[in-house]
Amino acid sequence: MYAFSEKNLHEQTIFVVDDELVNLKLLDKILTSAGYTNLVLISDPGQVLNAYLEHRPALILLDLNMPGIDGYHVMEQLAGLDDPLLPPIIILTAQHQQEYLLKALEAGARDFISKPFDRRELLMRVRNFLDAHVAHRLVRNQKDHLEILVGQRTRELQETRLEIIRRLGHAAEYRDEETGNHIIRMSKMCALLAKKAGWSAQQCDLMLQASPMHDIGKIGIPDAILLKPGKLEPSEWQTMKNHAEIGGRLLEGNDSDLIVLAREIALNHHEKWDGSGYPRGLKGEEIPVSGRIAALADVFDALTSVRPYKKAWSVADAVQLIRDNRGKHFDPELTDLFLEDIESFVEIKNAYQDYPEQLHP
Ligand code: C2E
Ligand code: SIN
Ligand code: SIN
Ligand code: FE
Ligand code: FE
Repeated sequence: MYAFSEKNLHEQTIFVVDDELVNLKLLDKILTSAGYTNLVLISDPGQVLNAYLEHRPALILLDLNMPGIDGYHVMEQLAGLDDPLLPPIIILTAQHQQEYLLKALEAGARDFISKPFDRRELLMRVRNFLDAHVAHRLVRNQKDHLEILVGQRTRELQETRLEIIRRLGHAAEYRDEETGNHIIRMSKMCALLAKKAGWSAQQCDLMLQASPMHDIGKIGIPDAILLKPGKLEPSEWQTMKNHAEIGGRLLEGNDSDLIVLAREIALNHHEKWDGSGYPRGLKGEEIPVSGRIAALADVFDALTSVRPYKKAWSVADAVQLIRDNRGKHFDPELTDLFLEDIESFVEIKNAYQDYPEQLHP
């Protein structure tokens, strides 16, 4: 029983490679009379490789003893293509010495057909190998096709997830900040500072993607507190401080690099170098570098921006506060990197301004 129809098998391309024209003619006659319609007869073994690339045969019948390039050499050339769909090669031979046959098997041959040819034996083998190869090719193509589909789908999901994450970051920010530009500025400053701290381009890119979520926990803070125009009462301040832990919880339990970093930043962006920050009061290098980087970018941008409870500070005042807090609020080394090239950070700020006229004098 065969998996494929007679017609399907008869349409498959078969190579016959033999330097003796008599043999070529004989095989042509046998195969054609049995219904095969796509035979490629090759008398010069030097032509096999090119013909292979052009025709993609489903079966190769190969003579071993040929002048110039012999059958072994042809098999070597074909093996060198590393084609996962290399068709079976059947050797046409008058030899019966075991040594000789083993060597051919090692070189990649799948079977032998003895000369002089027995018509029935020849057709039986051709048909068996063709059937197997066509089945193999079909499975293989379906697998490739599935892999491509799965790959596409995975990329779509990743992009969708990233987009949802960005929107959530904006949503959290839009409540107390009208343009959403804060997270754009803040994330670009984070990536720049990470670069200065020696992070790889890939890690910096992850930083750019993850830091917009630093205040995502503000989603859990009531309007009455978040949007309060003035100073917070002590109990309100206790509630407000929960935003770091809420953010940490929202981003829990996902093991993508992006979410892991985002969670680290959300949880640690209000820790301070001297241990006086929240939620955990971590100190110095106990605070993940990502959190220490985010603290500088977040405070610099928050200070120089309008909030419901405050006006925008001037750059000079913000720089002064950061300098004063070197080694207190902020990692001293990161502070130096930040202040050394403050122009670049101001440039980012200016590129994504909210309302310049609201800067106080
Ligand atoms: P935010 O407005 O995004 O500010 C982020 C951080 O920038 C603040 O974290 C603080 O370290 C720094 N910062 C912002 N404005 C000032 C300022 O005028 N002076 C000083 N010294 N630092 C400033 P912090 O303090 O942990 O606050 C976290 C969040 O709590 C703030 O995020 C804001 O949403 C809210 N918040 C803080 N203070 C008040 C307030 O007095 N009133 C209201 N309504 N919300 C406040
Ligand atoms: C945004 O959501 O556009 C800010 C962060 C980024 O530039 O990827
Ligand atoms: C990273 O997160 O891979 C950079 C270095 C660090 O946070 O320790
Ligand atoms: Fe925050
Ligand atoms: Fe922020």
